[in-house]
Amino acid sequence: MPPQPEPTVGDTSWFVHDRFGLFIHWGIYAVAGRNEWAKSNERIPDEKYQEYFDHFDPDLYDPREWARLAKQAGMRYFVVTTKHHDGFCLWDSDLTDYKSTNTPARRDLIAPMVEAFRVEGLRAGFYHSLLDWHHPGFPVDGYHSMRDNLEFREREKHRDIRKYREYLHGQTRELLSRYGRLDIMWFDYSYSQMDWEWSKGKGKADWDSERLIAMVREHWPNVILNDRLEIGGDIKTPEQYQPRSWVTVDGKPVVWEACQTLNGSWGYDRDNLDWKPVDMLIRMLIDSVSKGGNMLLNVGPTARGEFDPRAQAALRGIGEWMRLHNRSIYGCTASDFTPPPDCHYTQNDNRLYLHVFTWPMRHLHLDGLAGRVEYAQTLNDGAEVKMQVASEHHGSTAPGQNTLTLTLPIQKPDVAVPVIELFLKG
Ligand code: GLC
Repeated sequence: MPPQPEPTVGDTSWFVHDRFGLFIHWGIYAVAGRNEWAKSNERIPDEKYQEYFDHFDPDLYDPREWARLAKQAGMRYFVVTTKHHDGFCLWDSDLTDYKSTNTPARRDLIAPMVEAFRVEGLRAGFYHSLLDWHHPGFPVDGYHSMRDNLEFREREKHRDIRKYREYLHGQTRELLSRYGRLDIMWFDYSYSQMDWEWSKGKGKADWDSERLIAMVREHWPNVILNDRLEIGGDIKTPEQYQPRSWVTVDGKPVVWEACQTLNGSWGYDRDNLDWKPVDMLIRMLIDSVSKGGNMLLNVGPTARGEFDPRAQAALRGIGEWMRLHNRSIYGCTASDFTPPPDCHYTQNDNRLYLHVFTWPMRHLHLDGLAGRVEYAQTLNDGAEVKMQVASEHHGSTAPGQNTLTLTLPIQKPDVAVPVIELFLKG
C-alpha cells in the first residue's frame, strides 16, 4: 500500500486526484516587467510606483483564452493573485481605491477569470498577500519598499497593525462572498522569525490567523487552505524546489503541492532567460506525483493581458504530453516499488506507471516485479512491451531480487518522457 496522507479539515480528495494546477501572478508589477518584488527590491516609493498603476492597460486580456490554455495543458484548477505584496487589487474591492477599476483596465479582472476557468471545468483558488507595501496601516518592516528611508520610517512609526488587519479580514470576506464557491484559499505569507532589530517580521498574531481561518471555513467549509498563516492548513507548499521524498509533518505524510515557476520569476519578467525546457517541467510534475504530491505551475501574464509566447509554448508542450499520458498523473500517487535508476513510478491501484527519464539500451530491470505483472505497454501508443523474468545467468538479477526485465524498442518513443504502463496482477 502506498502511504496515505493525514486527513485534513478541507476536502482534498479532488486535489490529490487532479494533481496539476495553474498559478497566475498578475498585477501592475507586470508593467514594470521585472518580477513581482520590484517595488521592494528597488525601494520604489508610491509616487513612482504609481506610473505602473496609471499604465496598466490589459487591452488583450481574454481569460477564456487563458482557461483554454490551462485546460489543454492538463491543469485541473487555478490559483490567481487577487492582491500581491505591492497591495494592488485585481478586483473591485469596496475597501480601497488601489484596484484595477481605477486603472485604464477599468474593470474587475477577477470575475471574468473565475467564470472563464469554471466554464472549462477548472476549480478556482485565490492567492491573497498578507504583506502589503501600499496600505497606510501596514507597519514598515525589513521587507517594506520604504525600509531604507529613515525619514519615512520615523514619520510612519505609529502605524497600527490593527488597522491593516481589519482591512485584510474585510477584503478576505469580499473574496469569499463575491465569486461563488471557492476551492482553494492561498495566503502568502508569515515571517515572524525575521528580526531586523528596528522591526520584526509578521505572523499569526499580526494577521489574527485563527479568526481569519474561522471566517474562511465558515464561508466554505471544504475549502483547501494553504500553510502560510503560521497555523493549520490543509496542504504544505514547497516553493521552487522538488522535495526529496513525500513531505511529512511530525513524521507523517501530508498533502502537498510544489509551486513552481517557468523561469524563476512569478510575475512577468521580460528580460529573464531562465525558461525551463518542456521536458524538465514534465519531469517535475512526474516527480511530484511519484512522491504523492501536486504541482502548481505558474504563469506571469504580460501587462497587456496575455501569456508570453514562451509560456504558451511551455503549456502547449506539456499538454501534448498530457494528452497521451495523463493516466499516469490523474488519480496516481507514490508506489511502494523501487524504480530502476533514472526512472520514476506512479501508481493507481493495479496500474503501475514507469516513467523513463533516460532511455536505456534495450533492457530495463524492475526489481520486485517478477511474477507480478500481467501485461505491459508503451503508454503513448498502447503497443506491447515484452517482458521476461530476469536470469541470474545474465547478471540481470540477484537471489531475492525478483527482477522482471522489459525489452524496450531501440528507438525512444517520440514523446518528452516515455511511460511504460504495467498492469499488475489482481
Ligand atoms: C513568495 C513570494 C512571492 C510568490 C510566492 C509564491 O512567498 O514572496 O512573490 O508569490 O511566494 O509561492
